Amino acid sequence: MKKKIIVGVSGASGMPVMVECLKLIRKHPEYESGLILSDSAKITIEKETDFEISKIEAMADEVFSMNEIGAGPASGSYQTEGMLIVPCSMKMVAGIHSGYGENLILRSADVTIKEQRPLVLGVRETPFSGIHLRNMQELSLMPGVRIMPLMMTFYHRPKNIEEMVYHMAAKLVEPFGIEAEKYRRWNGE
Ligand SMILES: Cc1cc2nc3c(=O)[nH]c(=O)nc-3n(C[C@H](O)[C@H](O)[C@H](O)COP(=O)(O)O)c2cc1C
Repeated sequence: MKKKIIVGVSGASGMPVMVECLKLIRKHPEYESGLILSDSAKITIEKETDFEISKIEAMADEVFSMNEIGAGPASGSYQTEGMLIVPCSMKMVAGIHSGYGENLILRSADVTIKEQRPLVLGVRETPFSGIHLRNMQELSLMPGVRIMPLMMTFYHRPKNIEEMVYHMAAKLVEPFGIEAEKYRRWNGE
């Protein structure tokens, strides 16, 4: 049985990082992805990128609708390696923080926390308000939850945005046991 990672996508900036994460999961045959796009994610994809939603969906092994509240990931007995939400909006953070499982992304995140599986949140906003920071700080105390802001990285000496996006994506999938081929770790030199 393949290891399934649920990938939730919300309406924040940073869609190229999400696409790179889907590609990295696909490169590892022992893993598969289950994709859930929020309605706002679809709007942000259209506004900020040239990606076609159908092509993004084709990169996933399974696609769920955000309103499919009875789908597998809504239950703890459905086996997954955990969940990645990228990009993760502040509204999504607030929903997860309050256990408000009113759509499949929020319910899946709630289930991931209650089952104490890895939940990686590729959060994106700037500046963060006190509300955002409080929600993230409290979530970070839950077993398995990692808050990983989509930040610029320089220590690997990226030559272009694509290399920076790849590096961020590699960091986001690492907690699930995926080692990205071109991921350059800091070795102190
Ligand atoms: C082009 C665009 C970019 C956005 N970027 C962000 C962002 O970086 N962070 C954020 O928290 N919200 C951002 N938003 C606002 C969210 O899309 C909005 O709060 C939405 O209701 C989130 O819904 P969701 O969490 O269900 O996807 C953006 C909206 C648009 C249209």
